[in-house]
Amino acid sequence: MACGQLSRAEALACSGCRHACHVMLYSDTESQLFGKIPIRHIILMQMRFDGLLGFPGGLVNPSEETLEAGLSRELLEELGVALPISIEDHVDSCHAPASSPSSPSRLITHFYVKKMEEEQIKEVERAAASTAPDHGQEVLGMVRVPLYTRKGGGGLAPFLSHSFIGNARSQLVDSLLRFNLVAPEELHRALTHSLKIHSHT
Ligand code: APR
Ligand code: MG
Ligand code: MG
Repeated sequence: MACGQLSRAEALACSGCRHACHVMLYSDTESQLFGKIPIRHIILMQMRFDGLLGFPGGLVNPSEETLEAGLSRELLEELGVALPISIEDHVDSCHAPASSPSSPSRLITHFYVKKMEEEQIKEVERAAASTAPDHGQEVLGMVRVPLYTRKGGGGLAPFLSHSFIGNARSQLVDSLLRFNLVAPEELHRALTHSLKIHSHT
């Protein structure tokens, strides 16, 4: 894992640290792209106000709320649905990437993964595009992560070559492996190809 040096308890013990919680919501799906390419899983990310891709969630204040309650509050704003998040959904916690090597980040990011039913995920997408208070402001839209790879490199590789906030890209890649959402060799190919796409832009 790129992160994970901190347990949830160690992270909370850091005095003077700020905390942010984000979640990867996903489901299985039988649907197929063009009627023939299995989509396999629906994974939700979002286009943020700053033009970067990230996971839903945000800043929480552990002196006023639990991490999970703070995350649920952020999800209500960004997705427009009340989604209970539990400690069992916690995957890891780490310091956000430092802006310079001499000033380590005082922001700790906590990452959660929650599996849902396909219908629930679709309901989240509908609410995020309609009733969510942050829609069109902090959140420009929800996006699904294309997991397939196609001849010529379409799908996951170009998706991974976009720009991501903080360590959202490694949170995504680590979760694809950890939760068996993409075969390791397929992921490796997509990662290699995404670097080539980057070097051409
Ligand atoms: N990994 C690491 N850091 C992240 C990740 C991630 N996956 N996602 C977000 N961050 C960082 C962001 O850089 C941000 O500084 O965590 C911080 C809080 O996350 P947001 O989701 O942006 O916070 P939110 O509470 O939803 O928004 C509040 O924060 O970014 C500012 O001014 C912006 O109004 C916004 C405010
Ligand atoms: Mg927010
Ligand atoms: Mg946010």
